[in-house]
Amino acid sequence: MSTSSRRVPIESQSVDAPLSSTAVFLVLTVTEVPGAFENVRATLASISDILKNVAFRDLDAALSCTVGIGARVWVEVTRRPLPRELHSFRPVNGAHHSAPSTSGDILLHIRADRRDLCFEFERQVMDRFGGSVRVVDETVGFRYFDVRDLLGFVDGTANPVGPELREATLVGEEDPTCAGGSYIVVQKYTHPLTEWRTLSTEQQEAIIGRTKADNIELDDADSGQKSHKTLATITVDGVEHGILRDNMPFGSPATQEFGTYFIGYSRRLWVIEQMLQRMFIGDPPGLHDRLLDFSTAVTGSTFFAPSAALLDAMSDDPEPAQPATP
Ligand code: HEM
Repeated sequence: MSTSSRRVPIESQSVDAPLSSTAVFLVLTVTEVPGAFENVRATLASISDILKNVAFRDLDAALSCTVGIGARVWVEVTRRPLPRELHSFRPVNGAHHSAPSTSGDILLHIRADRRDLCFEFERQVMDRFGGSVRVVDETVGFRYFDVRDLLGFVDGTANPVGPELREATLVGEEDPTCAGGSYIVVQKYTHPLTEWRTLSTEQQEAIIGRTKADNIELDDADSGQKSHKTLATITVDGVEHGILRDNMPFGSPATQEFGTYFIGYSRRLWVIEQMLQRMFIGDPPGLHDRLLDFSTAVTGSTFFAPSAALLDAMSDDPEPAQPATP
């Protein structure tokens, strides 16, 4: 977890990094070139040094980076057993909308209050990766007014805070080799904003489950149609399981691309998967999240963010035994 001390603010893998004014979501796959895995491993082990190198140039900009590693490459890259729940993103196919699964071995979630620091950090990391990775998607997100998404709603209010944040996001004793890490799900959504704007404010508020101007929670309609807020609330045996979201708007008015990059951190992958089931299939099935009538999921991948200690320790691991040559 990141420290509040102004003196040592630079820490990689800070899941709870402060909300930033800009972010980069970089999804990569490991290539087939000889030595690719070795290089990816060495680069990831040096992330905290690269971070220190760039972040120190303006501590107030609070540069942070969280690395996620996907199931396909986890064992080879980390030389550790798979985190208990880690598997690749499982597509969800509802009657009207689908959440596709797209490739992704490595995620870099880079956050800062200065775009140039994100750029410089990403440049240095990509130089180190060289040909060992291929870029699947790079999305640059920005803070929109008072943490609003491009649909105009304040996004992130219900995030856990204080001790609840750690409980909701960091794996504990249930999986000792992965303790201190976090599951991450990312999805890139695009919005047909012109259609969204044909709805009245009241219709939009009913879809989200909060008022637009002052962000007050609303009850669901008597019809049985649940709002996004309600469908994304997971309660089991009376216990509500929260996740940490750090969604960011992205896009370009010039090309008419408008979107939300969803990123969710959780101690329990099944919680995010259950949210997606309830959104895409509906609760009851058939009554899907109406937010999806105005939001199309174009990517979907799952990662595990190891603790900073595990990431750094990768540089000290012994080489694996070479298979004997016949
Ligand atoms: C187009 C994509 C999305 C947009 C624009 C969006 C927007 C919002 C907004 C405006 C809220 C209400 C304010 C807040 O508490 O943050 C909200 C709540 C929430 N969303 Fe989303 N969301 C999106 C996708 C998702 C996805 C894919 C998930 C999970 C898989 C999710 C999980 C949640 C959760 C857990 C809450 C809080 C519910 C509560 O009140 O306890 N969202 N979202």
